Amino acid sequence: MQLYLDTANLGEIREAASWGVLSGVTTNPTLMAREKGADFQATIQEIASLVDGPISAETIALDAEGMIREGLEYAQWHPNVIIKVPSTTEGLKAVYALAKQNIRTNVTLCFNPIQALMAARAGAFIISPFVGRVDDIGVDGIQLIREIRGVYNAGGIQTRILSASIRHPRHIVESALAGADIATCPYKVLQQAMQHPLTDIGIERFLADWQHRQA
Ligand code: G3P
Repeated sequence: MQLYLDTANLGEIREAASWGVLSGVTTNPTLMAREKGADFQATIQEIASLVDGPISAETIALDAEGMIREGLEYAQWHPNVIIKVPSTTEGLKAVYALAKQNIRTNVTLCFNPIQALMAARAGAFIISPFVGRVDDIGVDGIQLIREIRGVYNAGGIQTRILSASIRHPRHIVESALAGADIATCPYKVLQQAMQHPLTDIGIERFLADWQHRQA
């Protein structure tokens, strides 16, 4: 399973890219709004220069025509830009139209396997089920990943399953075991993923032993 960063913060992207673990980046309107005053196009292009992989940029329009117009514009920004559209019938129309022009899409805000199946049939490159937000309403978010994997395998569907709305490192592991192709993680969660108290204790002990070694 690949790891993407779920942020529009260039500092976070630069740092995580230096760890060598990033295969792509996802953004959304909320994440863009957090980067006060940042220009959308300039931010996406800067991200594309930092990470050599798919970079998702989300459309704002709610109608297919508007999504297609925005998608065609974003696709000019960089060859790695993926057009993010919502899991709606208007979104399906946009996926279908953009796919005909070889423009890749990421269908976001997916909350059930039927949306995932329809997005794939329309030609989506990526489907984004929101694990954390499903957990938030008392339903098993990881089970959603498992069911989409089952539906896709049964139909020989190649659309990539991107586990989104990741809240903690365990979500990453469980997404991989449930069959996700990608997990997109907030920076804080990727940092947490490499932290373990026994690693810290082990480093301390090694250093202490090294300092007290016999000549
Ligand atoms: O990028 C979409 C998704 O990852 C958002 O997550 O934490 O706002 O539910 P969250």
